[in-house]
Amino acid sequence: MRVGFIGWRGMVGSVLRARMTEEGDWAGLEPVFFSTSSPGGPPPEAPGAAHAPPPLQDAFDLDVLRSCDVLVTCQGSSWTLQMHPALRGAGWQGVFIDAASALRMAPESTIVLDPINAPLIQRAMVAGKKDYIGGNCTVSLLLMGIGGLISSGLVRFVSTMTYQAASGGGARKMVELVRQMHDLGAAGVAVADTMGGLGVSEVVTQRMRAAEHPTSAIGSPLAANLLPWIDKPMPGGQSREEWKGQAESTRILDLDTPVPIDGIAVRVGSLRCHAQGVTIGLNRPAELSELEDIIRNTSPWTRLIDNTPDATRSQLTPAAVTGTLDVPVGRLRRLGTSPDHICLFTLGDQLLWGAAEPLRRMLTIWRTHAEG
Ligand code: HSE
Repeated sequence: MRVGFIGWRGMVGSVLRARMTEEGDWAGLEPVFFSTSSPGGPPPEAPGAAHAPPPLQDAFDLDVLRSCDVLVTCQGSSWTLQMHPALRGAGWQGVFIDAASALRMAPESTIVLDPINAPLIQRAMVAGKKDYIGGNCTVSLLLMGIGGLISSGLVRFVSTMTYQAASGGGARKMVELVRQMHDLGAAGVAVADTMGGLGVSEVVTQRMRAAEHPTSAIGSPLAANLLPWIDKPMPGGQSREEWKGQAESTRILDLDTPVPIDGIAVRVGSLRCHAQGVTIGLNRPAELSELEDIIRNTSPWTRLIDNTPDATRSQLTPAAVTGTLDVPVGRLRRLGTSPDHICLFTLGDQLLWGAAEPLRRMLTIWRTHAEG
C-alpha cells in the first residue's frame, strides 16, 4: 500500500511518525513523504517499511499525490482546501486521512475516534466513504473521557470549562510560552530573596506587561496568565472552539438528537495536555457507581481516578499524563446544585489522542479493511 504523508515535520506529524515506529506500523507500507517547501530533499526514516522512501515529493504535484492509495495529512486546512478538491476533481479514489478541521463537517466526511466510534467507521468504509478526519483535540479528549456516558443516554447536557495547552495553537506558541516562563522567572527570581511574595508578584506583573516580554506568537502573555478565548468568534457570543464541542460530538457519536454541550474554552500555560472541568446534567437520578462503571468501560485508555487528594494530584494532571495515551477521569461527585448534576475532571495529551493517534489508528483500520 502506497501511503503519502503531508505535513509530517510539524508537531502532530512528528508524533504520528514516532507512534507508527513504536507500533511497527511501517511494515508492509510504501511510504512517500511530500513537502510544500523542499521537494527533492531527504525523506525521514520509516523503519521497517517495504520500500525505503524516495526523496521528498512536491506536495502540490497532483500526479504523484494521485499515485498514492492513501494520503495522511497534518499539513493544515489551507493545503487541504486547495488539494482535496483538486484530487477528487481529478477522479482520485484513494483514502484521505486528515488532522485539519477543513473537511470535518463535510457531508462525505467521517470524524474518526475509533475507541468511541468504531462501528460508525466500519459502516463508512463499507459504504465506500473515503474521507476520514481527526476531530478537534478538545472534543476527542472529552469523548475519550465521557463518550460512554453520553452514549448511554443518561446525559441531558454537558457544560465543559476547558484548560487548553499551548501546543493546541502550534509549536511556535508552545516555544514562546517557555520563553515567557523564562522571562518572568528571571525577573521574579532576581527579587525573590529581597522582596518576598508581594514584591515578586509586582515585578512579574510589570514584566508581563512590558513591551520586551515575548508575545509575537501567542499575541498575549500566557505564562502566569490565562486567555479565556480560543479561535474565532461565532454568532451568539461563542468562540469557534466552544461551538465545536456539540457540533463534532454529535457527528462522532452519530447522535440523532444532539446532547447540548457548551462552556468556556480557556488557554492556560500547560504545554501539551488539554484538561476540562465538566458539569453533567443527568436525565434521571443515577448512583455514582453506575456512572463509574460506564466511565471505566469507555475505552482501554480511559482511567477512573479516585476522588481523593493524593490520587488527583498524582494522576489527574498534565505532569502525570503528558506523553502517555492515558485519559484519566476524576473528581467525580454529585454537585451541590441539584441531585441530578454531577461534576468530573478529565485530561489527555493533546498531540496523542487529541491529534495523531486517531489518524494513526485510522490508517491501520483502513489497511485491515482493504487487505482483509
Ligand atoms: N483548536 C485546538 C486548540 C487545537 O486551539 O487547542 C486543535 O484541535
